[in-house]
Amino acid sequence: MDSLLSLLEQAHREIEALNDIKGLEGLRIHYLGKKGVLTQTLKGLKVLGEEERRATGQNLNEAKAHLNEWFTAARERLENQALLKDTVQKIDVTLPGRGEGQGHLHPITQTLARVEQYFMSCGFLVAEGPEIEMDYYNFEALNFPRFHPSRALQDTFYFKDGRLLRTHASPVQIRFMETHEPPFQMMASGRVYRCDYDVSHLPMFHQTEGLMIGKGICFAELKGILDDFLRFFFERPLKSRFRPSFFPFVEPGAEMDISCILCEGMGCRACKHTGWLEILGCGMVHPNVLNKCKVDPNKWSGFAFGVGIERLAMLFYRIDDIRLFCENHTRFLKQF
Ligand code: DAH
Repeated sequence: MDSLLSLLEQAHREIEALNDIKGLEGLRIHYLGKKGVLTQTLKGLKVLGEEERRATGQNLNEAKAHLNEWFTAARERLENQALLKDTVQKIDVTLPGRGEGQGHLHPITQTLARVEQYFMSCGFLVAEGPEIEMDYYNFEALNFPRFHPSRALQDTFYFKDGRLLRTHASPVQIRFMETHEPPFQMMASGRVYRCDYDVSHLPMFHQTEGLMIGKGICFAELKGILDDFLRFFFERPLKSRFRPSFFPFVEPGAEMDISCILCEGMGCRACKHTGWLEILGCGMVHPNVLNKCKVDPNKWSGFAFGVGIERLAMLFYRIDDIRLFCENHTRFLKQF
């Protein structure tokens, strides 16, 4: 027993004193290898009597476990030391640091925030709706008749079960009207999806939809608020005009143009030499839509509009390729 203890003490000292892995392995073999000190001693037990053999065997096995533990710890310590030494040698501490860049909001998020800032200041409530939508909300309740060619105006992504990725933010109007009593004014922003991809179209983009329902609301309110919004957004006085247009959920429907902010109406490539830029769709909510939402069209009237956020951002920041917004190149994004 005494000699076993002093053997262990010696081994411990030797292990602790080591500072290279090769030496450690040599030492391990010396103690624990097939022909190692401990193994040999274990073999020598044969000559002992039954009782003594059992007691000594147990001690030897415990000693072996200790040794194994020390060797593992020592190996870990030496490996860490080696790694540290290696890393320190490879790092040139005299090199200038990489610096800490500060992040910021994506230009689309910033644009959305400005749109919301305006309409919230006019008392519009912010509503939300699902991106995976039912045909009813995306089309039917918005007065797109079934099998009507107007559904083909928007190339829709369908799911097998008949649901779809909403093609516009207008379905939120319906969901809002179903759950609120007029008068109200609300806005809903978010992602919308269409099967489309080129310099001015993305399969996923953002829209803000607005809706105002009240007593005696007419086109004059619509014109006034949208005119004011665009002046706020583009930070300057702008000319605007409303062109008659067709959207199934409004009557009359219109598209709003603003004087080209690039050429100030003189005519350039961006406005196809017309001096005007198309900026949004709008109109007076169709009585069929009000009826579907159990809002009495004889009592209430209102307007709706839908504006593309990427389009606003492209004009505001003067960007000529919409795809830049979703490619996430930091050299592009850093500019905002
Ligand atoms: N939802 C239409 C689209 O995505 C935009 C739109 C047009 C919304 C007229 C409206 C509106 O609320 O009145 O093309």
